[in-house]
Amino acid sequence: KNLYFDYSNSGVSQSDIESMKKSLNTVHNMLHYKTGSGNEFLGWLDYPVNYDEEEFQRLKKSAEKIRKDSDALIVIGIGGSYLGARAVIEALSHSFYNQLPKSKRNSPEIYFAGNNISSRYMKDLLEIVEDKDISINVISKSGTTTEPAIAFRILKEYMEKRYGKEQAAKRIYVTTDKEKGALKKLAEDEGYETFTIPDDIGGRFSVLTPVGLLPVAVCGIDVDRLMDGAKSGREEYSLIDLDKNYCYQYAVIRNLLYNSSKSIEILASYEPSMRYTAEWWKQLYGESEGKEGKGIFPASVDFSADLHSLGQYIQDGRRDLFETVINIEGVAERLEIKRQESDLDGLNYLAGDTLGYVNRKAFEGTVLAHVDGGVPNLIISIPEINEFYYGKLIYFFQKACGISGYLLGVNPFDQPGVEAYKNNMFALLGKPGYEELRRKLEKRLG
Ligand code: PA5
Repeated sequence: KNLYFDYSNSGVSQSDIESMKKSLNTVHNMLHYKTGSGNEFLGWLDYPVNYDEEEFQRLKKSAEKIRKDSDALIVIGIGGSYLGARAVIEALSHSFYNQLPKSKRNSPEIYFAGNNISSRYMKDLLEIVEDKDISINVISKSGTTTEPAIAFRILKEYMEKRYGKEQAAKRIYVTTDKEKGALKKLAEDEGYETFTIPDDIGGRFSVLTPVGLLPVAVCGIDVDRLMDGAKSGREEYSLIDLDKNYCYQYAVIRNLLYNSSKSIEILASYEPSMRYTAEWWKQLYGESEGKEGKGIFPASVDFSADLHSLGQYIQDGRRDLFETVINIEGVAERLEIKRQESDLDGLNYLAGDTLGYVNRKAFEGTVLAHVDGGVPNLIISIPEINEFYYGKLIYFFQKACGISGYLLGVNPFDQPGVEAYKNNMFALLGKPGYEELRRKLEKRLG
């Protein structure tokens, strides 16, 4: 049993793959010997074996405390300081986690904030936590990102009003840089419990650091097993042998497809619980590769729902797409379709089959239909959805992203493009220092 990668429906030939071996060798060395661009952000490569054990234990203790004294945890963060935790929680917990009666869930509800600037969202959030005891985990590596900073300002004030300054401080957990940034200073001044985002790990590669691990542990997800899975990925995907390294195969094949004008990759899954995994993956690949006028555009679909919407486009639209399907092989839940006397819905031909079986046939049929329609399909299979395989999947995607970005010829670890909107927003908001830009933008806006 293992995570495996199948590219037999990709249309890529063995000789194409052979032709990439030399470049792969080069980028493998760039990553492992830290000689490529962005090499100051490669801490995630070995993190599963060299993370701070003392901090890890402290994190588990804090998670236990939150589980005991809180009905809800509000996780404040955006981008890499948000998507990973949400992806893991949605993949590994109950589909209706927050709605489950507490007796069945045995852990706090989880809400996310600071990933938008919507006043309606914030008002509704404050309403939903009104009668619950809450804790807050505010996550920001820079400590200065506008969206989470605003959310934290509002929620800090709310907590202090509700619990008093001293008690509120015992319910606020900060995950940030070890010394830099406004949030670090604030945490020190207020005496909040603080966890560190390592210097050499960028936001979108940080899910297996306290950024993701604290909220995930609060949910009761086994963080040791998650790290074991990542550890296993680290070992397996360090093999330079392309024939044995699934992670490198994925990186190489998506680049070959990109070079043959397939510029959009759609991540598909048949499990709704994987929706935020796709959101996390889109950030990982989009922010890492989309630069210098290059990069595969990462998109995602939820099947079978989207077979009734975007399925049309995938089957018949522009042929610049390929799909990567996350296939979860074993489904723990066995739900059987029963025979009915009347058979008015005509479904008796499925009597005795399980929902899992029907879902599998939908997957198999769709792969063949889309391949026939000219959409290469790559399949990443995991035996079942549990902490171990999910941790391994995270590592698989992260490593493939580093390799893939280097193959593409970009620095996968920076994100210069996200500054443009920020500068404009700051200028329009009247932030000191942006006066000249403000004048220019306001003129354009009329
Ligand atoms: O991947 C990244 O670096 C970004 O998406 C950041 O995670 C995001 O901008 C949030 O940054 P910060 O954690 O500094 O608030």
